[in-house]
Amino acid sequence: MDITKIAKTGSQKSFMKYHEDPEALHIGTLKDHCYFIPFGKKQDPMAVREESEKFELLNGEWGFTYYDSIIDLPDDFADVAPAGKLPVPSNWQLHGFDVPQYTNFNFPIPYDPPYVPDDNPVGVYAKEYDYKPDGLRKILCFEGVDSCLYLYINGKFVGYSQVAHHTSEFDITDELKEGTNRITVAVLKWCDGTYLEDQDKFRLSGIFRDVYVLSRPEKRLEDYLITAQPDDTFKNGNLKVTVTGSKATIRLYDGETLLTEGTADENAPFEYTVSDVNLWSAEFPYLYRIELETDTELIAEKIGFRKICIEDGILKLNGTHFIFLGSNRHDSYPDTGYYADREKMRSDLVLMKQHNINSVRTSHYPNAPEFYAMCDEIGLYVIDEADLEAHGCVTVHNDLKWTKGYGGIALIAMDPLFKNAILDRERLLVTRDKNRPSVIFWSLGNETGFGENLRDAGDLVMKMDPTRPVHYESMHHLDDTPNNFEMVSEMYTSPADICKYLEREDEKRPFILCEYCHAMGNGPGDLEDYYQLFVSSDRLMGGLVWEWADHVVITGEKEDGSPKYGYGGDSGERHNDGNFCMDALCYPDRTPHIGLMEVKQVYRPIRVSKGSEPGKFILASQLRFIDAGKYLNCKWEITYDGGKSAEGSFDFSVNPWDKTEVTIPEAAGELKPGSYIRFIFTAKNNYGEYKDGDEVCFDQLKLTENEVQTVPVTTAPAYTESPLEYVITARNITYTFDRRKAAFTQMCAGGKNVLAKPVEFNFFRAPVDNDTMREDWYAIHLNDNIVKVYDTQINAENDSVVIKVKQSFGWSIHQVNARVEATYRIYGDGRIDVSCDAELSEKIGLLPRFGLRFFLPKEFTKVDYFGYGPIESYIDKHQGSYIGNFSANVSEMHEDYIRPQENGSHYGCTHMSVSDGAAAIKFSNPEGFSFNTSEYTQEELAAKKHNYELEKSGYTVICADFAMAGVGSNACGPVLDDKYRIPLPKISGHMTIALK
Ligand code: GAL
Ligand code: MG
Repeated sequence: MDITKIAKTGSQKSFMKYHEDPEALHIGTLKDHCYFIPFGKKQDPMAVREESEKFELLNGEWGFTYYDSIIDLPDDFADVAPAGKLPVPSNWQLHGFDVPQYTNFNFPIPYDPPYVPDDNPVGVYAKEYDYKPDGLRKILCFEGVDSCLYLYINGKFVGYSQVAHHTSEFDITDELKEGTNRITVAVLKWCDGTYLEDQDKFRLSGIFRDVYVLSRPEKRLEDYLITAQPDDTFKNGNLKVTVTGSKATIRLYDGETLLTEGTADENAPFEYTVSDVNLWSAEFPYLYRIELETDTELIAEKIGFRKICIEDGILKLNGTHFIFLGSNRHDSYPDTGYYADREKMRSDLVLMKQHNINSVRTSHYPNAPEFYAMCDEIGLYVIDEADLEAHGCVTVHNDLKWTKGYGGIALIAMDPLFKNAILDRERLLVTRDKNRPSVIFWSLGNETGFGENLRDAGDLVMKMDPTRPVHYESMHHLDDTPNNFEMVSEMYTSPADICKYLEREDEKRPFILCEYCHAMGNGPGDLEDYYQLFVSSDRLMGGLVWEWADHVVITGEKEDGSPKYGYGGDSGERHNDGNFCMDALCYPDRTPHIGLMEVKQVYRPIRVSKGSEPGKFILASQLRFIDAGKYLNCKWEITYDGGKSAEGSFDFSVNPWDKTEVTIPEAAGELKPGSYIRFIFTAKNNYGEYKDGDEVCFDQLKLTENEVQTVPVTTAPAYTESPLEYVITARNITYTFDRRKAAFTQMCAGGKNVLAKPVEFNFFRAPVDNDTMREDWYAIHLNDNIVKVYDTQINAENDSVVIKVKQSFGWSIHQVNARVEATYRIYGDGRIDVSCDAELSEKIGLLPRFGLRFFLPKEFTKVDYFGYGPIESYIDKHQGSYIGNFSANVSEMHEDYIRPQENGSHYGCTHMSVSDGAAAIKFSNPEGFSFNTSEYTQEELAAKKHNYELEKSGYTVICADFAMAGVGSNACGPVLDDKYRIPLPKISGHMTIALK
């Protein structure tokens, strides 16, 4: 419905005619410009902006009235007293109005551009503003409003703006009267911009970033461009400052030292060359300070000298090739939604650096302006992305989709209706952030496909800023005619396909994975494989993990007062994409997932390998710009199963991306079998955001092979045999083996049975998010078998009693899933050697695990093991863990994924025992095995949708696994690599079980 037709002529509502008009994007706004905050001439211009006498923050409680539909909005709504209050910034869905909707790429509204539903919710915000004329213009700035805003001052329409993640500025001076004024902002949930903001996130609305008023003179510095680049020798830095609006005195400082002072005006930029310049990089984020002073204002910021370019197909910073070891990041917080204040932004960035991340992509829109200066200072390469995604086009019913498949995504990219709106978003991006050294790529947006609009967008950005390469992943969707982009970007490409790319004769551009290793749930399992690939060719530019933090909404409180986290569907939204929003390296409160600990290791600044002879080791720096030895201490220790035999430390020096050899004589001497050396690197000299002494990374190498186990000689234990049971007695241990189930039903040590249920073969795990084939598992009832026993036999041999069993596992409807032949050899000391050969149906595709499951009384809580720990580890996810002796309580071994799933496994273990303080059961295999111990059953983990719904089983559940499949990243990535699968159809297992 045309709102202007139902509104009274001349009423406040009658001005609402722009939100369904993609040609009317900003009405009454000031020209956009680079982000800066002016200070008074006597002020410290580097202080936080709230200190500036020119800056007045309007954050806080605003009056608020929510209307379900714009149709119900009163004609003169700005004159209506607010019904309630709402904090600014915030998202109204997190304060009881409307509901948060999580949709990935499907549009939240019918596809009908430029129209949006008539029942378009509106939030009317009201704020009193005191004005005393002081000769200065009052500029009202909104840094982020979703989806668009109509602004009224004292009830009079002043302007309109859209593009949720961009600044809109209005000069409101002429509407102000001395004394109290009323600012009214009507924010609409949807506008034509909604079609361009279809990012994978909770769809939230409102004024979600800071709002403030700047007091500035009529004639003022409007914009400036700083170019700071090294010369061809990389020794000197050329600075050029171009100003518009006013002339300015320019000063350049290195620390407190004034290097130069001069002026710039509209006709003549300021230019200066810094000799022996310190160049900026993420590893060494050296910044200079620049001041721009006008008659009444002082503006300052930090700048960095650096040159980014692609040369002969190779990405270079300051002449040196480097790679992105990055993460994508959304603005998403359980408490504040889209609003990230300075502390939140900074702590995210610090946490990234503390996990050796060197880059961030602002997926999929520009962040708050203050974010970028933090990246400059902390040292992170930024891929700055325009607020653009039209991914939903892939699912709308359009002809393009039927004929071009995924190319249908380009519907909007080709539609002239959206041309200006798309160009506007690019222009806003480059204009605002052009002076930030950390921004090294512009990104045109995400998943909008390629067509004329995006080609023009690319041309515009390249023209506006020739100093930075342009990134756009979606450039190959639809239009595959050659384009001007200097790089190729893809997401989730498998390592094999990247290798194919490198072999192409017709494509010499460098390649980046703007998203990879989808970190959803228990994963990702392929980080190291990608790293190895990244460093194998200079034509690769690395990648950025998807993504930084899980997106959730708070749906209640747990008993302990902590929040219950909900995901798509938990707010009763119309359509949703479930838990696909929890796909990140951090939990919502930024507690690292195990995946982030994997990242920290894979992105480590230094790697150690064995040197030319025993006792020599090669330190290979992964850094490109600094001497790692200047910032890292190395401690080392030699351990074996049960102890430590030597330790020490050394200083070193290694050129960037070079190697050096160190000697550790202790590592060459007489060593115990199964010895490992671990190098632990800790920070010194203020390395990045680490505190001196913090662990940065480690490396572990095996020095000697394991001892060949000598099996104690025993005499065969006694046994009895009956039609349904075998009973074997060795020393004070008695085993009861049920012949009908072909399973041990009792294991008694000193009269105490450690089994609460019969032992069972186990082929299932609670699906991890990457187990995309889980429905196939359920279809064949891998989780729930009917057992058939073909035969059981018992025989005494010299030193043992041997039970042999043939059985199968299946379900109705299909052939059986597995046939197993198992041998249990029980020695006189009570040890059981379990050996089994299984033949599995190939219909299983991917077998998650093959092992034995034990239910012990819940008093069995103490776990000791030797293997990959102390954190969760899998065959493809153990970079963050190392081999050693670890002890833990069963309850601590649960990794609390918000959507419960398989967790807490430990890979590469040679022994593990669980005890109640008196009795213990011990599992061992010198070849290595995996295990979990948990208070929860896999059935419970599989059944519950949220962690807070989990109920303890009342037992200690042990899964002793001959084999456990890797976790991969298949939720949105390649299928699990063969080397991480359990090979089918034939598999065998071995393990020794003993009681104490
Ligand atoms: C990508 C997209 C991201 C996110 C991810 C899945 O295709 O660019 O925004 O949706 O998939 O989690
Ligand atoms: Mg998308």
